[in-house]
Amino acid sequence: MSYSLYAVTAPGLEGALMRELAELGLEARAPRARRSADDGPRDESGGLEFSASMVDLYRANLHLRSAARILVRLGHFEADNFETLRSRAAALNWSFYLAPGRPVALRVTCHKSRLYHSDAVAEPVAGAIGDRLGRQPIVVGWDEQSAELPQLVVVRLANDRCTISIDTSGALLHRRGYRLQTAKAPLRENLAAGILLQSGWDAASPFLDPFCGSGTLPIEAALLARRIAPGKNRRFAFMDWPHFDAPQWKALLAQAVAAELPEAPPIFGSDRDEGAVRIAQANAERAGVAGAIRFERLAVSSIQPPAGPGWVVTNPPYGVRVSPVKDLRDLYSRLGDVLRAACPGWHVSLLCSSDLLAGHTRIRFEAPLPLINGGIAVKLYSGILPTPA
Ligand SMILES: C[S@@+](CC[C@H](N)C(=O)[O-])C[C@H]1O[C@@H](n2cnc3c(N)ncnc32)[C@H](O)[C@@H]1O
Repeated sequence: MSYSLYAVTAPGLEGALMRELAELGLEARAPRARRSADDGPRDESGGLEFSASMVDLYRANLHLRSAARILVRLGHFEADNFETLRSRAAALNWSFYLAPGRPVALRVTCHKSRLYHSDAVAEPVAGAIGDRLGRQPIVVGWDEQSAELPQLVVVRLANDRCTISIDTSGALLHRRGYRLQTAKAPLRENLAAGILLQSGWDAASPFLDPFCGSGTLPIEAALLARRIAPGKNRRFAFMDWPHFDAPQWKALLAQAVAAELPEAPPIFGSDRDEGAVRIAQANAERAGVAGAIRFERLAVSSIQPPAGPGWVVTNPPYGVRVSPVKDLRDLYSRLGDVLRAACPGWHVSLLCSSDLLAGHTRIRFEAPLPLINGGIAVKLYSGILPTPA
């Protein structure tokens, strides 16, 4: 049996996600209607459709590094009035995903439709679930922080067509379980992983993040290099479905653990902030990769990279979230000088919100990749540092 799935990612990371899915043997395509963020369909980018078996749905949640959430499509039908909405929604196979009485959270968006009020749409959908399961569901709000998450149901009305999807992931997939503490302006783990994949790092050459903050990039680099499945220590929504195949999941986990590599190439993270370095170290320990990373308290001007060439992938402060722009020109200019001197021939990928700041490094970058970080438009600037003649 094949399911119609939708993997959500940060806008801009679709290419990285497509390659990850291909590595799992899953062929993905861009959706016809662009969708976004963690709640499925909207008129922005940020996801890919693919078809897969139930086992592949488990594998995708376990292994995808750049995805934020995976949804399974339950139904798609015309509905321009509440009665039709309720009766068509009641015909769907809810019992495959919901045990009677399981709390649900309904996330509804309406776009260019006669049914335009999201709360009013949620009511007949909840009613339909009750019609089908013989018991009204307890409808609750969605709170990512909650220890007991309800089953998330995503309802999208566009041009009088209703799409109902069931979340397969539960908490967003960037919640790997290791990052209990953060320093300033942390990257989401799936964005960090997507940036790494996008940087072209070969997971065999040295890796350096001289602005490591809470350590997200070096930790994701170590997980990638050691082929540690990002989802191996967490729960997923599909585990609460009535037909969850626990032995199959156990077998997938065992396979994933057996495929882990014992070693990683040299991975370095440094930051001038002592607290950040302490946090990064603790996060790496929880992620099980502390042995693979050397964290140090260092200002960027003092870095001493290992013999390369390797990859510098980093997220320096860029003003909007950390410090005012006027303080930053010198930092970027110094960063360029330091990297040219210390890392000849290395690849550099820099996440930054400003062409001007990136320009201050005087590194020759290719066309940057636009991304969104915490709601801020940023770009990933990549290039190769010159080697002395
Ligand atoms: C945007 S944050 C990095 C966040 C990190 N990627 C994460 O996921 O937690 C930028 C970091 O640069 C550090 N920083 C600022 N100026 C620095 C300098 N001159 N040398 C080294 N680190 C510096 C800050 O302490 C901060 O942790």
